[in-house]
Amino acid sequence: MKLFDVYPINDITVVKAKGSYVWDQEGQQYLDLYGGHAVISIGHTHPHYVQRITDQLNKVGFYSNSIHIPLQEELAEKLGRISGRPDYRLFLCNSGAEANENALKLASFHNGRKKVVAFSKSFHGRTSLAVAATDNPAIVAPVNQTDNVVSLPFNDEAALEEYFAAHGGETSSVIVEGIQGVGGINEASAGFLQAISRLCKKYNAAFIADSVQCGYGRSGKFFSQDYAGVDADIYTMAKGMGNGFPVAGIIIAPQLQARHGMLGTTFGGNHLACAAALAVLEVIEQERLIANAAEVGGYLMDELRKIPQLKRVRGKGLMIGFDLPEHLKELRKNLLFGQRIFTGEAKPNTIRLLPSLALRKKDADAFLEAIQEEIHAMEGAAPAVK
Ligand SMILES: Cc1ncc(COP(=O)(O)O)c(C=O)c1O
Repeated sequence: MKLFDVYPINDITVVKAKGSYVWDQEGQQYLDLYGGHAVISIGHTHPHYVQRITDQLNKVGFYSNSIHIPLQEELAEKLGRISGRPDYRLFLCNSGAEANENALKLASFHNGRKKVVAFSKSFHGRTSLAVAATDNPAIVAPVNQTDNVVSLPFNDEAALEEYFAAHGGETSSVIVEGIQGVGGINEASAGFLQAISRLCKKYNAAFIADSVQCGYGRSGKFFSQDYAGVDADIYTMAKGMGNGFPVAGIIIAPQLQARHGMLGTTFGGNHLACAAALAVLEVIEQERLIANAAEVGGYLMDELRKIPQLKRVRGKGLMIGFDLPEHLKELRKNLLFGQRIFTGEAKPNTIRLLPSLALRKKDADAFLEAIQEEIHAMEGAAPAVK
């Protein structure tokens, strides 16, 4: 049997990984500033993480949500404390799309309404309502198309006000990324997030903060929306939560009530997933990784801004983007195959940096040196048109 061919892949096979580095089968070392798409939060194969999952696997790997799983309560307690939201409640699932799907559904159960507001350039996942709320018609199948999702311009407070004035009473939820990831590292302004918060409260709609990519400390705060001083009704999270183990969740403000059967999952919150998620939070806390993301990310952005060829350096913490001029559009590929550095991209010409939150300053310096070397080599080969 062959694989269903949906991914354009790089011709590299990773066989070993540690911290911010991975190795291919020829033993070549790569600096990983992509983190397997923002997933590696505490670093590859962190010893505490490996130990905790291994110990758990030797006890019990899985049992369903029909019995007590004290690890879930331990995780909820720790997550509540570290995220600064001890009075929220936790529902565990398996992926970012599933987290958003559950959040949108929960909001609709809560207020009995159907309309969802989403924004231009957003990405919320590939399941039915999550993909309908995503601003990319190429990945929305006919069966996913719905009149229940309205797309408004991102960071446009006036358009949001106008929409709510006309349709606030029918609006179930507003879903927004604090920093758009797939859309190209676009930060929601504090004013925009505050307007969402205010309008959702006024019209009894749910504010859903999609923190799947920008959450879990990546921005230098636990949730990137925290920079705006707002509290969402539901936060969705996934990528960094398990450092690669598939675990996701939503945390839910106290005013949204649970009832039996409202949400559910077979695998969500299983013993191994909880062990992975607990190990991640323990390392984030012990190694002060949120502060490290703020510090190393701030340094990296300051230094990138000194490289004149890189345009619109932006982001927060270790969620960084910059645009490339036309003559450097192959830079990401050259960094990978020439300098052995993984970075991410966003169409058409953005490089995204999404490394482990444990990235060290010396790794940032290695990257800064390599990117300048590569730019000079590329310009030497094909000088920029002045
Ligand atoms: C902001 C955001 N939301 C949701 C998702 C979907 O997550 P998953 O691929 O785990 O379903 C992603 C994935 O890139 C994302 O970046």
